[in-house]
Amino acid sequence: MSTNSTNFRLPQWLRVSSLLASLAVMAAPAFAQHEIDSDAERSPIVISGNENAFGYSQMAQMAIMQKLQGANRYPRQEAVDLQNAIAAREDVPANYVLQSPGSGPILVMTALAFAEPGKNVVTVEPGYTQLTNAFQEHGGEVKKVPLNDDLQYDLDAIKDAMDENTAVVYICNPNNPTGTIVDPVKLTQFIMSAPKDVLIFVDEAYLELAPGGLEKNSMVKLVKQRKNLIIARTFSKVFGMAGLRIGYGISQPETLEKLKAYYMGGPSILSTVAATAALQDQDFFDFSVESYHNVRSMVKDRLDELGLEYAEPNGSFIFIHTGVPIDELQARMAEEQIQIGRPFPPMLDWARVSIGTEEEMQVFLETFEKVMKEYGKIAA
Ligand SMILES: Cc1ncc(COP(=O)(O)O)c(C=O)c1O
Repeated sequence: MSTNSTNFRLPQWLRVSSLLASLAVMAAPAFAQHEIDSDAERSPIVISGNENAFGYSQMAQMAIMQKLQGANRYPRQEAVDLQNAIAAREDVPANYVLQSPGSGPILVMTALAFAEPGKNVVTVEPGYTQLTNAFQEHGGEVKKVPLNDDLQYDLDAIKDAMDENTAVVYICNPNNPTGTIVDPVKLTQFIMSAPKDVLIFVDEAYLELAPGGLEKNSMVKLVKQRKNLIIARTFSKVFGMAGLRIGYGISQPETLEKLKAYYMGGPSILSTVAATAALQDQDFFDFSVESYHNVRSMVKDRLDELGLEYAEPNGSFIFIHTGVPIDELQARMAEEQIQIGRPFPPMLDWARVSIGTEEEMQVFLETFEKVMKEYGKIAA
């Protein structure tokens, strides 16, 4: 029997009412994540992936709802609008921007475009490995430079590690997992004096959360002067849209062309309109930055009281010296329904803990103190 597909369409009233029902769910308190009731079984606290526990812009959520029925189309004007909004935010021409489903693809496209046998990428250890792993998998070599005693980038050591085969230098600022930042004056000098045939890749995934934010620290202002510079940014962190998969790279069009050879498609229409709306939502942005600063300070204060060492955090996470093998600690915390970050060799007795809500971090701190006492790392 042939069926007319329109028979299976929801009636208009039902479509409208489900839309309204969804809107009602959205109107519920957006930022309450966890019931902190000691008698109740609480849901796991996920502070392992540097996601934003404070939610994301309600303006972005509304933009998604409004575009739901238009998702049968590819993004056209929506992508142009976002391109222009990003260009305005970054103060660059629109053709300096390459949108992607998260910033991860920008890192991987760069690896694919620049890796070849005999070439190397210079980076730090411990560091974020998405670009460097892909570089290695595609025939290149990875040269890892240790951080200095304060777990910060040592730009002189990076210079020393560079040779005539260096194709890329990857700088993650703030560094993941340590959260430490590079002095903007020194980084500017480094970029301006780097050989012009070496690509300098600055991953600024968390930079909005550093003191002074993008204005003080971003290297995007050098992009017009330096063809060999790419900046990566994401909507996954301060904007809280990790699940929507949207980010971008900024560079001169000639450099972006090299990446585009490996382009596998852009963000969805829903992510695109959400990102455009998020850029207009200054209130959520400010709320997110302020929440991170407040909760990060609270965590630091408690770690200071407990006498535990940590790297100075400038992103959405904190790297703590626990003295316990991270595999073991991860498993022990998981028994307490708390998921913390993965191992970051060679610092295998440190733990990377994402900053969650204040309530989540209070539970984390209480549990962490108990577990550290069990291991004899703080006095019982
Ligand atoms: C430093 C850094 N760069 C890039 C990414 C990629 O994130 P996304 O693809 O969600 O933009 C992450 C994710 O955690 C990250 O920590």
